[in-house]
Amino acid sequence: MSNITFTMVKPDAVGNGYTGKIIDQIISAGFTIKAMKYLHLSAEQAGRFYDIHRERSFFKDLVAFMSSGPIVAAVLEKDNAVADFRTLIGATDPQKAEAGTIRQLYAKSIDANAMHGSDSDENAKIEASFFFSALEIF
Ligand code: CMP
Repeated sequence: MSNITFTMVKPDAVGNGYTGKIIDQIISAGFTIKAMKYLHLSAEQAGRFYDIHRERSFFKDLVAFMSSGPIVAAVLEKDNAVADFRTLIGATDPQKAEAGTIRQLYAKSIDANAMHGSDSDENAKIEASFFFSALEIF
């Protein structure tokens, strides 16, 4: 797999009914969906997914938030997928996100920031395989 990124529509955006609009914006930006599932993470699963942030002050709140409701997890493909997707979703803090980005449009705070996007090709592969087996990626 190359040119892929991993994303989650987070519990705030799912709960607010933005999933359809967000997926439409992702496809309109030229990404192809390679895998997708709707699920509710346990706190243990959210903690394992965000293990690299375990020592950060926001870790506990992050785990509580990410296990507070269902999410949509997906693997996306496009040339330059990781960087282009991060441009599409905007800055981690929605107050700093560019106009028209998904976080600027649909997110309220740095915790409830609507979307996750992988930060490197290496992490995209690790994160995709956290949620999907090879049989589930097309
Ligand atoms: P995400 O891209 O999913 O990766 C880690 C998440 O931690 C991030 O989005 C934010 O929702 C959350 N977070 C909360 N506080 C911070 C912070 N100060 N810096 C980075 N991420 C934060």
